[in-house]
This record gives sequence, C-alpha cells and structure tokens, in this order.
Amino acid sequence: MTVLLKVNDLARRFKHGNGDFIDAVKGISFTIEEGEIFSLLGPNGAGKSTTISMISGLIEPTRGDALIGGHSIVREPLKAKSLLGIVPQEVALYPKLSARQNLDFFGRMYGMGGKALSVRIDEVLDIIDLADRQKDLIETFSGGMKRRVNIGAGLLHKPKLVYMDEPTVGVDPQSRRRILDTVFRLRDEYSMTVLYTTHQMEEAQELSDRVGIIDHGEIIAMGTVGELIQKVGEEDRLEFCVGEQKVDGLLKQFETQVEGVTKALYDAREQEGTAMIDGVITIYAKRGRKALPDLLRITNDAGLDVVSVTVHEPDLEAVFLLLTGRDLRE
Ligand SMILES: Nc1ncnc2c1ncn2[C@@H]1O[C@H](COP(=O)(O)OP(=O)(O)OP(=O)(O)O)[C@@H](O)[C@H]1O
Ligand SMILES: [Mg+2]
Repeated sequence: MTVLLKVNDLARRFKHGNGDFIDAVKGISFTIEEGEIFSLLGPNGAGKSTTISMISGLIEPTRGDALIGGHSIVREPLKAKSLLGIVPQEVALYPKLSARQNLDFFGRMYGMGGKALSVRIDEVLDIIDLADRQKDLIETFSGGMKRRVNIGAGLLHKPKLVYMDEPTVGVDPQSRRRILDTVFRLRDEYSMTVLYTTHQMEEAQELSDRVGIIDHGEIIAMGTVGELIQKVGEEDRLEFCVGEQKVDGLLKQFETQVEGVTKALYDAREQEGTAMIDGVITIYAKRGRKALPDLLRITNDAGLDVVSVTVHEPDLEAVFLLLTGRDLRE
C-alpha cells in the first residue's frame, strides 16, 4: 500500500471582524492510501472545507503540513498541487459556454492545450458521461449535470488524488446517484484516489473505504464503516408501532424467549393535537431481522395489533450520536 496523502497536525485559526479567534481546524492528522475513497464526514461548520482548502493550497495552514505524493503543500506547493484535482463546493462554470468550451477553458488554465487537451477532454466527457451533451450550453444543464462538468474540470490534468467538497448538495436524488456512480468509477476504472467531504452519513457510508468523522475542527473517529459502527455495538433496534395496548408481559417474553434480544421497552406518547396514543415497543437485538419472525409470533399469539415494524441497523449516524451526544442532521 502506498500512502498518497499524509496530513500531519494540520490546523487553521481564523480571526473574525470583532477580533475573536476561531480554531476552525485544530491539528488533524490522517493518511489516504492510493486507490481509496476516503470521506470526511461532519456537520455544517465542522471544518471540512477549511481542511480541504489547506490541502489544496487555497489557504495557508496556521500549523502543520500535508504531503501529496511526498510533496509538501507548504514547501513544494506546485508539485503537490499538480497531483491534486479540485472539485470545489461551489460550481464555477460559464453559463454561456458549452460543456466542452468550459472544459477547454479550465484545461488552458492548467497550462494544457492542442491535441493533448482535446484528447483529454474527450476522455473526461466519457468519465462524467456527458459526451452526448458536450456542445450544449451550461445554462441549459440541470444542477446535477453542472456538478458533473465541475467534477470533469478537476480531472483534466490527470490528477492522482481528486478531492470533492460536498458535490451532491442541492441536487435531486437521480443526479446524486450518477455523481456517486462517477466517484466509484474514478476509483474502479481510472485508479484514482478520492477525498470526499459530506455531511450526509448515507453517502459516506455507501461510498467510503474509510471515513474520518470530523466535529468542531477535530477528527473524533476514523476507520472503515464497519470499524466505526462496531463502536456503537452490533445490535439492531427494532420498532413496533402498537398504539395504546397492554404489553407488559410481552416485553419479558421477548427478552427471555427470543434469541438475540437483549432489551425490550414500551414507550407511549400522546400524538400532538389528538387524543391518540402513539405506543412504540423498542427491541434491541443482535441480528434483528432473524429475531423478527419469533417476535411477531409472540405478538400474534397475544392478539397484539402491530401497525408497523422498522428495523434500524447500526449506522454512522448512531456513531456520531454516541461520540458527540448530538444528531448529525441538526
Ligand atoms: N474565511 C473564514 N473566516 C472566518 N471564519 C471562517 C472562514 N472560513 C471558515 N470559517 C469558520 O470555520 C468553521 C469551519 O468552517 P468550514 O467551512 O470549514 O466548515 P464545513 O465543515 O465545510 O461546513 P459545511 O458543511 O457547512 O460546508 C466555521 O465556524 C466557519 O464559520
Ligand atoms: Mg464546506
């Protein structure tokens, strides 16, 4: 395994207008291996963009360094940057130019030109799957298509490491799907390495070989999705909506008679603005789906009416909640 990015104690302090300081990034360290998709997952304001801006040489670190392919962003910024493809959070394209003309413009900015650029633009249009729309003006593109052109612009100089800053924010689910597929293709078909930032745990969970969870400028946990989820334990949480019914005896039965069940609770709440009672049985179980038939047999035998069943497998959301006491979505 070759380390492509090594981030070492990187920190950034900003001074606000009123003279106050904010430590947006507080000395973070991580490495990315060649061929990996690594995600920085964290809520708004966690320090993701600041971290990435330092790695890509857009802002200077207050402390620390990052090496891309062994080249320091502080001491050898040009060499380091030549290995990095940047896909910024904001889309910056010329609406009155076609997709191809935009890519041509960005290519020239990288010092490319002639036949080599033209060939590379063809390749990039294939990667982002927009070859058939290359002559259309950007202003006629959907948000998701613009994002893909934005990604393409970052790929022109054949970087080894591509960073993408929340490329799916504000796009519809279908476009989002295509962007995520593009990220996979960069790794699987084009042997690129990807540094991805997001505040959406589903995305990080689906995409990443490894995830760093960032909060208040610090990485609070790092590992494969599986490793991170192990932190919250391996129990599934099952919810049975049952309304207002007597369940006391049943809870004991679940706990003692069904394999894998460790705990069963009943919680009843008045539904806002109505006289209805919202009763939910929460069951913690190892391999919750396997326990489900036995649980339902018990409710059936008891004549209990189960309106709905949901199985929550442990996820990165639960990891964030465990580590910070807060919800990632807040
Ligand atoms: N140029 C700046 N001047 C002052 N403060 C800044 C500057 N850039 C960022 N900050 C502050 O640093 C903190 C981290 O911001 P950053 O943009 O890195 O967060 P983020 O994780 O990218 O969030 P989001 O998910 O909203 O993009 C925030 O409190 C932000 O207000
Ligand atoms: Mg950001």
